[in-house]
Amino acid sequence: MAERSRARVGVLISGRGSNMLALLYAARQADCPYVIALVVANDPEAPGLAFARAEGVATFGLSHKGRKRADFDALVDAELRSAGIEYVALAGYMRLLSDDFVARWAGRIVNIHPSLLPRHKGLDTHARALAEGDRVAGCTVHVVTEALDDGPVLGQTEVAILPGDTPDSLAARVLIAEHQLYSRTLAAFVLREAAQPLLSPQSRRA
Ligand code: GAR
Repeated sequence: MAERSRARVGVLISGRGSNMLALLYAARQADCPYVIALVVANDPEAPGLAFARAEGVATFGLSHKGRKRADFDALVDAELRSAGIEYVALAGYMRLLSDDFVARWAGRIVNIHPSLLPRHKGLDTHARALAEGDRVAGCTVHVVTEALDDGPVLGQTEVAILPGDTPDSLAARVLIAEHQLYSRTLAAFVLREAAQPLLSPQSRRA
């Protein structure tokens, strides 16, 4: 797909960045409909920033500490806009977004969450799945709305829970599923969004 017709995606991370890398490597396939044009972290030391830089991707690392949430998000928003970003993908971004930021990017922010939403919103998903005796765990990609881990689900993958699983052993298998799910789901999402103008306003609402 021609570079100029690919959707420009900005990825927000807080740490390791393995989902960001999964999105980035998937984007190297010729038929991928998106390109990772910017990686942002709320910690300048986030390991994922160094990985992105090494892969030739523009980065912006800025600590949120000492800044009001809305002020920090406005700085991130300005970076995304000056990089011509069209969609935002949260990939292990461990900060709540301000309502204003979500409103500015309404319908164009997606997130990956390590559980089968609506089960286990928030943190410690794997420990909670084990403590509650779940038979399956998994991951979800969803559209971001103002409410935490609550927007429309775009895709999910189930991961079996084994006897003797620990939160870490389960997280490791779920992470493999995350890497597969996120790139495929993001690709389908941007293709679907790009096709929307071709539809009538009535069919868009359906
Ligand atoms: C991933 O498991 C992601 O689903 C989770 O953080 C991890 C980040 O890993 N996100 C959340 O819990 C968001 N609520 P990564 O930095 O290697 O992609």
